[in-house]
Amino acid sequence: MKKMTALFAAAACGLMLGACGGAQEQQQQESKADEAAQTKHTVLVAYFSASEAHVTAQVAKNLAEAVDGDLFEIVPEQIYTAEDLDWNNEKSRSTVEMKDSAARPAVASKVENMGQYTTIYVGFPIWWYTAPRIINTFLEQYSLKGKTIIPFATSGGSGMGKSGEDLKKASAPDANWILPGKVLNGNPSIDSLKAWVATMKKTPAVSVK
Ligand SMILES: Cc1cc2nc3c(=O)[nH]c(=O)nc-3n(C[C@H](O)[C@H](O)[C@H](O)COP(=O)(O)O)c2cc1C
Repeated sequence: MKKMTALFAAAACGLMLGACGGAQEQQQQESKADEAAQTKHTVLVAYFSASEAHVTAQVAKNLAEAVDGDLFEIVPEQIYTAEDLDWNNEKSRSTVEMKDSAARPAVASKVENMGQYTTIYVGFPIWWYTAPRIINTFLEQYSLKGKTIIPFATSGGSGMGKSGEDLKKASAPDANWILPGKVLNGNPSIDSLKAWVATMKKTPAVSVK
């Protein structure tokens, strides 16, 4: 009988522990879900970077940190080789694409959760004084109505030119663009990126006809 009681007690305890464990697990799951909801970023930094130095990639990484946003790389289906990037060759892939405003090089990646973002920083290297055509491909994949888009770039010295206006007109006319955006050369510090972002927040979106 003593043995039976002990067995019963152990079984009851086991059941209780099971119940306790289940409740604890549920609580943990709930707090994890709360955490995820809190850290769900509304700002996206999407960038394309092609040269071996990956200049734009570095700036984009720092910018994502400065704005506490998510980072997304626009990856071409066909990676650009050094020959593809030769702007001295009129037959190189980049020259051919940039001469054709309708060129839309395919992308290999897609932002699955675009709906969660309200502000998108779009970064690219300046090619022939404007944005590479793959940025058009990227933008045209989504419904961007009402989202704020802020372009940034790196370059060999050129400014933003009409890159933002060109992108807005051709590929995301319904978005609220803050233009002209900014060339962020010289690997700016996180603090200086934060200062730029603060000025962007005060700049009204523009409409381009
Ligand atoms: C095809 C091509 C065209 C370019 N055209 C320009 C240009 O018009 N003006 C400029 O200042 N730099 C130009 N550059 C230089 C890039 O904008 C610069 O090196 C940039 O920082 C590269 O960024 P990435 O490393 O992220 O690709 C060009 C580069 C390439 C490959």
